[in-house]
Amino acid sequence: MSKPASLSLDQAPPITVPLRFFLTAPLFAITAALLLLWQGPDLFSSRWNPALLGATHLLTLGHMGLTMLGAIMQMLPVVASAPMRRPALAAALVHTLGTGGIVLLCTGLAFTLPLALKFALPILGSALLLFAALVVITLRRAMPHNMTARAMRLAALMLGATALLGLTLLSNHAFGWWLQSREALTNLHLTWGLLGWVGILVIGVSYQVVPMFLLTPPYPAKITRWLAALLFILLLALAPASHSPALRILLGSLLAAGFAVFALTTLRLQSQRRRKQPDVTLNFWRGGMISLLLAVALWLAARVIPALDMAQSYNPLLGVLMIVGFAMSVINGMLYKIVPFLVWFHLQSRRGPSGPKVPNVREILPESRARGQMWLHFAALGSLLAAIFLPASLTYPAALLFGASNLWLWLNVILASRTYRRINGLIIEASGHGAAAPQIMK
Ligand code: HEM
Repeated sequence: MSKPASLSLDQAPPITVPLRFFLTAPLFAITAALLLLWQGPDLFSSRWNPALLGATHLLTLGHMGLTMLGAIMQMLPVVASAPMRRPALAAALVHTLGTGGIVLLCTGLAFTLPLALKFALPILGSALLLFAALVVITLRRAMPHNMTARAMRLAALMLGATALLGLTLLSNHAFGWWLQSREALTNLHLTWGLLGWVGILVIGVSYQVVPMFLLTPPYPAKITRWLAALLFILLLALAPASHSPALRILLGSLLAAGFAVFALTTLRLQSQRRRKQPDVTLNFWRGGMISLLLAVALWLAARVIPALDMAQSYNPLLGVLMIVGFAMSVINGMLYKIVPFLVWFHLQSRRGPSGPKVPNVREILPESRARGQMWLHFAALGSLLAAIFLPASLTYPAALLFGASNLWLWLNVILASRTYRRINGLIIEASGHGAAAPQIMK
């Protein structure tokens, strides 16, 4: 068994670095819900439906991507065991270019506006490639035995590769030269994006945060040492295998087995945790792991029963399970640990020996608010899945639930950041009266 690395917090960047990403991300999911309300059941009519492509990227890049970029910016100096140079400038650059690029990409895709896509190409491309390079370069300094650092580096390489493929596909939309291999390239792009960038990152981060935040035993050393690298190699091998269906199925089955091992191990560790009190983040993770297992089972079933693969509901089901069920559940759950903890930590380190009282994490983000939002999220997930079979009656309720869940998430993050601003104001006031001297000016 490997020991979980503890986070050394003296390396932490200013709180504005991750918060600006966390405050923007839910707005993209709310926009995706509005797009679904506007399009209605037609949204899922074809995988090439422009509005569906727009909605997909509002979630994968806007919601999931921005949150993950913010979380990495927070964790990077800690995982690399060295402070990042000019973190506020790097965050401002990546966040501004990234947000602008995502808005242009999604508007351009959803409303078929080639001009917006021509602007999206360099803006979004530079934000994501700059970020991927920053992560890979910074992590060169990480300890060789830090498995989270290794996985994070592989995930960043996958982000770079996904972005390059995405930009190639996008150039089709922007300039109208339709590539022959559009479908094969799109399949590789979405597999690298969802399994490589998102999947490997979640795996690597969970080695660190699941034992720390959910008080579980550590992941077995065999998994932490090999799993992320193995999945990375299998994903790379998919590129030359695109013309051999048999090889693709073999690689896909191995990938499915790898992700199933991760999900089952995570569920087992969580059942062995030391404190048995209910925990919202734990439930989000359980929902995420069950969705991942259902996606794996569905993919395997479609290999055995080809009629399933042909069914119109197959791709939307897989997409909703992977994006809303797996990735968004885990991300949402993590935000409820990261955000209150960061607010508490930054206030605590600024208040000095006799500054104002700092609220604890439960006061910063009350459990009842997080729990209510969690039920809304799972209700939205269930109704989105059901809407694939009963589009006429369930698409609109599903869109409303999904929008409401993300609005509530956004309000919860705002609440925590307001608490930071309020107490920070008191700390500054008190230090002005000589009562407390801020220790870290962040
Ligand atoms: C620079 C970043 C990105 C760009 C420019 C981009 C662009 C595109 C384009 C143009 C398509 C449509 C392909 C076509 O119509 O020929 C597409 C599909 C897709 N992309 Fe991206 N993408 C990016 C990042 C991502 C990421 C990070 C993810 C996942 C985490 C992702 C997930 C998907 C999915 C799931 C589809 C397929 C939708 C479907 O088949 O219905 N993309 N992307």
